[in-house]
Amino acid sequence: MEKLRIGLIGLGTVGSGVYKSLQNFENVEIIKVAVRNLTKTRSVEVPTEKLTDNPYDVVNDSSIDVVVELMGGVEPAWDYIKTALENGKHIVTANKELLAKKGEELFNLSEKHNRVVLYEAAIAGGIPIIMPIKTILAGNKIHKIQAILNGTTNYILTKMDADGASYEDVLKEAQTLGYAETDPTGDVEGFDAAYKITTLATIAFNARAKFENVYREGITKIRKEDIQRANELGYKIKLIASATMDENNNADVRVHPMLVPKDNMLAHIDYVTNAVLITGHPIGSIVLSGPGAGEFPTASSVIGDILAIAREYKTTDYLLPMMRCHHHSVANPVKIEDTYNKYYLSITAPNAIGVIAKIGTICANKDISLSSILQKGVESDNTAEITVITEKCLERKIREVVSELEGCEVKSLIRVMEEG
Ligand code: NAP
Ligand code: HSE
Repeated sequence: MEKLRIGLIGLGTVGSGVYKSLQNFENVEIIKVAVRNLTKTRSVEVPTEKLTDNPYDVVNDSSIDVVVELMGGVEPAWDYIKTALENGKHIVTANKELLAKKGEELFNLSEKHNRVVLYEAAIAGGIPIIMPIKTILAGNKIHKIQAILNGTTNYILTKMDADGASYEDVLKEAQTLGYAETDPTGDVEGFDAAYKITTLATIAFNARAKFENVYREGITKIRKEDIQRANELGYKIKLIASATMDENNNADVRVHPMLVPKDNMLAHIDYVTNAVLITGHPIGSIVLSGPGAGEFPTASSVIGDILAIAREYKTTDYLLPMMRCHHHSVANPVKIEDTYNKYYLSITAPNAIGVIAKIGTICANKDISLSSILQKGVESDNTAEITVITEKCLERKIREVVSELEGCEVKSLIRVMEEG
């Protein structure tokens, strides 16, 4: 049997899982593995002659058929992938940042050289999502995606809810346990989820969404009080990556925390689990959920991609046509200020007559209808914490309300997911 010859760049969390798991397949052989540090102690034993600290040894090796990029980041990974494509190799990658920032160039280059780029692991780790959208859901017009795409932030929000703890305390604990990185910015500020939803929206809508147009807010400002109030009102707070497409090619793609009604499945996706809710026609709505990260779940997706190539390699001149990039149009971006949402506001106000009336009047003057307003007594410093949930209204208008609430402090402004 002729084996598919693999060159690996990166032998960290995902690379190690891939290396270990591929030992079970007879139709695939790992020829070379590039790492940064040749002397590092690893959980996997790789023969010394296969290891290199120069990724060009992998991408320029004429005997290698597929380059599996598992190092992450844009540069120098992009340079290695470009060289590999120019040298006629197929690509498998888990690199969501590269896909989000260089997707257009990457797929144009791969088509030019008639090579495939597969990236199942890049979006929700072990959850199969790219291949289902590209194949069995191909007959659908997908118009909405709502997803939990980042395990670190979902873990933090779940722990804050379960323990009644602050963001800072849970983050520290998550770092000690190894769930959150020492520099957690990419996760907690929503970059990771924004990279993933950029690519997911692009393939689901068949029109390119651009990363620079994706609105992004992280979870660093979520207070334990918000989580408690949300619970009382029938919601959980989750970092939601969402994308909607209208009939005029306008794509609203964003990542921000949301109050999710407890009767929505996404409210019950806890800890590091990820989930993707897809709505389209004729399928209706489906939810895919599972492990969004980790050594073996992520390796599962990488291996699936490698085996898909192995199955067709040398049987056709045009491999995996359904998995290729077919969108050549760019979606029109929708600015967050122009979107309509429901809002949760937590307002600290002086304990004075007419404060609630004033909030109501300012909202009414902006055509904003309130669906609930709650004050639980008075604080010891003679202030009141007032929680408001609005009906759907224009983001621009709610921002005007926040700036006009003189004498009051808006502690939190969080969007609310609609029921149903
Ligand atoms: P990681 O543990 O940090 O591993 C990165 C690997 O790349 C290491 O083996 C490192 O070498 C190697 N590397 C880095 N720079 C290099 C260079 N310039 N030349 C050669 N090798 C280099 O990262 P990871 O968590 O496995 O993530 C890899 C990719 O998968 C990223 O794109 C990430 O976003 C994506 N991803 C990760 C997960 C997950 O659960 N971790 C899930 C989905 C997607 P040394 O070992 O010598 O330092
Ligand atoms: N950092 C990501 C997360 C895992 O916390 O979900 C890699 O995609």
